[in-house]
Amino acid sequence: SNSQFSLLKQDYQAAQALYHHILLKTTTGEPALKYLQQRQLSLETIKHFQIGYAPKENKTLVSFFQGKNKEYAELNSSGLFSEDDAGNLYDRFRDRVMFPITDQSGNIVAFSGRILTTATATDQPVAKYLNSPETEIFNKGQTLFNLAAAKKAIRERGEVVLFEGFMDVISAHQAGVVNGVASMGTSLTDQQLYLLNRITKRIVICYDGDTPGIKAAQRALQLLKSTNFDVGVVVIPNGQDPDEFIKAQGAPAFKTLVEHKSLTPTAFMIKYLSQQYDLSNDADKVEFLNGALEYIIQVQSPVEQELYLGQLADQLGISKQAVQKELQDKQKTQK
Ligand code: GTP
Ligand code: MN
Ligand code: MN
Ligand code: MN
Ligand code: MN
Repeated sequence: SNSQFSLLKQDYQAAQALYHHILLKTTTGEPALKYLQQRQLSLETIKHFQIGYAPKENKTLVSFFQGKNKEYAELNSSGLFSEDDAGNLYDRFRDRVMFPITDQSGNIVAFSGRILTTATATDQPVAKYLNSPETEIFNKGQTLFNLAAAKKAIRERGEVVLFEGFMDVISAHQAGVVNGVASMGTSLTDQQLYLLNRITKRIVICYDGDTPGIKAAQRALQLLKSTNFDVGVVVIPNGQDPDEFIKAQGAPAFKTLVEHKSLTPTAFMIKYLSQQYDLSNDADKVEFLNGALEYIIQVQSPVEQELYLGQLADQLGISKQAVQKELQDKQKTQK
């Protein structure tokens, strides 16, 4: 019901205020604050994204809500707690940096909590990021991190930048790219595209430059094919993610990459196809050319087709006429 919804939202709001206070104003929060400073987040950024810290101790939030005369059922279904065998609640999030996640109106409806170590996910006994479970107010597939706060900037800039990670959205914001959102660690969904479609016609995919990121970008492109979005793809060099790139190359280089260096979906697909071949080898050249032409054949604009053909000819050291002839032959056999 509506009143349950608003009670839950109040609980999340209260939890966020507590976590944020602990991070910024208490000695308990110092290691987490240090961690965020090591990741080069400014105080302004920490405040803007309302980042917090959930302490190690497993009754911080339980004690906090105890004085508030809350129904057990409300707390138990909130997603903020777990229940032990004796039916006692304890805090779901412990010793984690807390990123609040809002619905479209800006109400906090969930958290994502990150462990404080920098080790990679595979060395961890616990997940690097822990999300709130789905509740009456939180549906992962219908949520985009930072959408409410970025809506105005997305409209003004005429595009949304889609990132993989929360830290990428946050770093990009600090670097001046304020129209970014991220899905909840899952693949992009139709419902998320539906939300975006109401505020912009252009999506720039800016996923991690590693293999999983590139594969995720290809899946996103597949989903975007059946939509009317104008799409660009930014490839972050050296396998880095946007946050790492910003640290290594600086904010201006990142802005240039996002604002001026995005590839069309076709150029992106051809680029990644080419990396699967050894182009000094003639057999590989022929196979790659065939694959690339399969993408180019689907391009509607003759001008764009012409551009891709020219680039392909240059890349392979083959005459443009030969490449064009090959495309025409392909078109004939496919009719
Ligand atoms: P940092 O290490 O903090 O820079 O995170 P990242 O955003 O670079 O993480 P990564 O590229 O590994 O993953 C991208 C996104 O996937 C994250 O922002 C999370 O939303 C999600 N993700 C990563 N690891 C986990 C995990 O262990 N559990 C869950 N539920 N989600 C994860
Ligand atoms: Mn700001
Ligand atoms: Mn990644
Ligand atoms: Mn990443
Ligand atoms: Mn990262």
